[in-house]
Amino acid sequence: MQVGIDMGTVAGGTPASLDIEELLATRLLVQGNSGSGKSHLLRRLLEQSAPWVQQVVIDPEGDFVTLSEKYGHVVVDGERSEAELSGIANRIRKNRVSCVLTLEGLDLEEQMRAAAAFLNGLFDADRDYWYPVLVVVDEAQMFAPAVAGDVSEEARKQSLGAMTNLMCRGRKRGLAGVIATQRLAKLAKNVAAEASNFLMGRTFLDIDMARAADLLGMDRRQAEMFRDLKRGNFVALGPALSRRPMPIVIGNVETSARSSSPKLMPLPEAYEDVEDLIFTPDPEEFTRPLVARRATPAPRPTTDILAELSRSTPAAMPLAAAEPRTPQPVLSAEEREDRLMAVMSEILDDPQSAYRTDAVLFQDFLVRSRMRRLPGPPLSLGEFRRRTAIARSGVDAAMAASEAWETVLSLSNSVSDDLQGVFLMMAKAALTGEPCPSDARIARAYGTHSARRARRLLGYFEEQGLVVVHSDFSGKRIVAFPDLQAETAPGSADAPDGAEAGLAAE
Ligand SMILES: Nc1ncnc2c1ncn2[C@@H]1O[C@H](COP(=O)(O)OP(=O)(O)OP(=O)(O)O)[C@@H](O)[C@H]1O
Ligand SMILES: [Mg+2]
Repeated sequence: MQVGIDMGTVAGGTPASLDIEELLATRLLVQGNSGSGKSHLLRRLLEQSAPWVQQVVIDPEGDFVTLSEKYGHVVVDGERSEAELSGIANRIRKNRVSCVLTLEGLDLEEQMRAAAAFLNGLFDADRDYWYPVLVVVDEAQMFAPAVAGDVSEEARKQSLGAMTNLMCRGRKRGLAGVIATQRLAKLAKNVAAEASNFLMGRTFLDIDMARAADLLGMDRRQAEMFRDLKRGNFVALGPALSRRPMPIVIGNVETSARSSSPKLMPLPEAYEDVEDLIFTPDPEEFTRPLVARRATPAPRPTTDILAELSRSTPAAMPLAAAEPRTPQPVLSAEEREDRLMAVMSEILDDPQSAYRTDAVLFQDFLVRSRMRRLPGPPLSLGEFRRRTAIARSGVDAAMAASEAWETVLSLSNSVSDDLQGVFLMMAKAALTGEPCPSDARIARAYGTHSARRARRLLGYFEEQGLVVVHSDFSGKRIVAFPDLQAETAPGSADAPDGAEAGLAAE
């Protein structure tokens, strides 16, 4: 069966077609510097081919998990033992289910080991299950590095071996490698050499250009054309694409990446007390639990500045300038509260809001409040976070008015702002006797995909004496709140996010 999927357009506007069956036999290498549009290209390829072929994505940044909503990919968190990962990979082949292995939050060595275990699991599947699978590896130079780096030799060998198997010996077993890299020169030569199809994006460095020219059988001067390519423009070559180098523009995608390019934002107005603001540590900084994240700075500075912005602007303005240009409508406290809640729910009803930082949501809130001409001083960031956490915990009006909920709110004062959402959700489950939320559900409430981080949060609450975690005889988790004299019903820690939704629905 010949299926040509539409990758975008060739100059002149005709569709650029990629022959999927040919691709399965001949593999694909995508290269381009950071921001050239490789991940976007892979997403286009995955979306367009989803109805035709099973897919496995090895995803270092957790960018592709959004495929699950529209295309049903199972999201596999890489934070598992190697045996578990290889078992899952085996069942993925047996049941022919598309999946995304997300390695977000793991350190480089852990990522390499997890990817290796998973790829080997796919590779070692029983001959009965050698159905065709597109295996997409983004940032392939991490898993098949050309030279030894900072990681242990053992991890490098393991990962390189798995990538070599995928690209060199995978075809017979139905595995078709599609790999993307920022730097060809950093990718192991034997892994790159097994691809017969190429999509080359913008490339600056001579050494990468030379490698690209060698792979494509071009002379080096001809390869100069890669230098001037715009974002989203690639040169296609290979049996599944085109017999001659053909410039194409990659088309749009249906799902969005979780990370996107940074956008310029206006800087805040000058503060009067800028030194105070920067050099005075917030007491919260000392109580904040250490949540390990790979070299990502905590968002604290932005949030401080945003909070300050909302507080200090009216005070910093001279009196005359503070007069509103249009008279503000006079609203009763109740009307104002209604309007405020409407703005909050506009923001929180978007399912993606769970994965946005509070700073981003707060900024959105400030803008929308101004658009709705909400009179009076805006909420502070702290108050905004608190209301967000309460709204997300899903309490109804009756419970919100109860004494028990008062206790919950006063207990929640002892956890830092960013943990309030998780704390209130757990407390609500205990008060209503719902099953204990799973790791995946807790992770979402915290705005992450990492189950390990979810478990760490429960450990932290336990250390603070707020909860006692135990389990029933079947191993299901129960979280008890001594101060509330209440506990959740037993719930499976490993259940996928949303499994308890039916039970927990108000
Ligand atoms: N063809 C395109 N059409 C529209 N937007 C695009 C296109 N290609 C890329 N973009 C946008 O450009 C930005 C960078 O693209 P992308 O993340 O795919 O780059 P990348 O090559 O994967 O970079 P990195 O190597 O740093 O991961 C993204 O915000 C993406 O949405
Ligand atoms: Mg990318």
